[in-house]
Amino acid sequence: SISEPLKVMISGAPASGKGTQCELICQKFGLVHISTGDLLRAEVSSGTEIGNKAKDFMNAGQLVPDEIVTAMVTARLSREDAKEKGWLLDGYPRSFSQAQSLEKMKIRPDIYIILDVPDEILIDRCVGRRLDPVTGKIYHVKNFPPETEEIKARLVTRPDDTEEKVKSRLEIYKQNAEAISSTYSNILKKIDGNRPKEVVFEEIYSMLSQVQKDKVKPMKLG
Ligand code: AP5
Repeated sequence: SISEPLKVMISGAPASGKGTQCELICQKFGLVHISTGDLLRAEVSSGTEIGNKAKDFMNAGQLVPDEIVTAMVTARLSREDAKEKGWLLDGYPRSFSQAQSLEKMKIRPDIYIILDVPDEILIDRCVGRRLDPVTGKIYHVKNFPPETEEIKARLVTRPDDTEEKVKSRLEIYKQNAEAISSTYSNILKKIDGNRPKEVVFEEIYSMLSQVQKDKVKPMKLG
C-alpha cells in the first residue's frame, strides 16, 4: 500500500507551543516544516527586500501584509520536497483572506490543529522565551533552560517578546481566529496546550498516526 504524504496545519496564539511541537512532529513524521515566522525572521536577518518590508510590522507585533506572506508560503509549498514528504504549515493562514488564498489554490490540509493555552500563561511563555541562533532550538528561562553554559551565553530574545507586544499579538490572533477556524471546521482538532510538551505531543502523535492510516490507499489487484 502507498501512503500519500501528510498535510498538517498547526495554529494557536503566540507562544502556545507551535514551534516546540513542530520540532517534535518533524522528527517523527519527516514533514517539511514551513513556519512563516521563521521564514520572515530569516529574511529580516539576511536583509532581503522581503525582510526590509516585513521588519517594522514584526517588531511592532503586527501582521505583515498578506501579499508578502502569501507569495512566500506558496513558493515554499510548491517545492518538490514539500510535495514528496508532506508539509507542516505553522503560522499560516493567520487571517481570513490568507485562508481564502489557499482555498482558491485548492491547498487544503488533512488536519487543522489548534493549541489552546490560557492568556496569562502565554505572556509568561513569551517573556521567558530564548532562541539559540546556532541550532534554532527554542528554550525558556524557567520551563526549558539551556543544557550548557555555552548555549546559555549565546541565547537571544525576540524583539516582539515584550509583555506589551505579546498583548497586541494576542489581540490580533483573537480577532482572526474564528474566521480561520470556520474555514477548516470539518478537520479541526483543538488540543489542550497547557500541559508538559511531551504530553501535548503524545496527543498530536496519535492524531497524526490516525490521519496517516486513513490516507493509506489499498493497492490495486490484478
Ligand atoms: P510567529 O513566529 O509565527 O509567532 P507567533 O505565532 O506569535 O508564535 P510564537 O513563535 O511566538 O510561538 P509558538 O506558538 O511557536 O511557541 P513556542 O513553541 O516558541 O510570527 C511572528 C511574527 O511574524 C508575527 O507577529 C507577524 O508579524 C509575522 N507573521 C508570521 N506569520 C504571518 C502571517 N501568516 N501573516 C502575517 N504576518 C505573519 O513556545 C513559546 C515558549 O513557551 C518557549 O519558550 C517554549 O520553550 C515554551 N513552551 C512551549 N511549549 C511549552 C509547554 N508545553 N509547557 C511549558 N512551556 C512551553
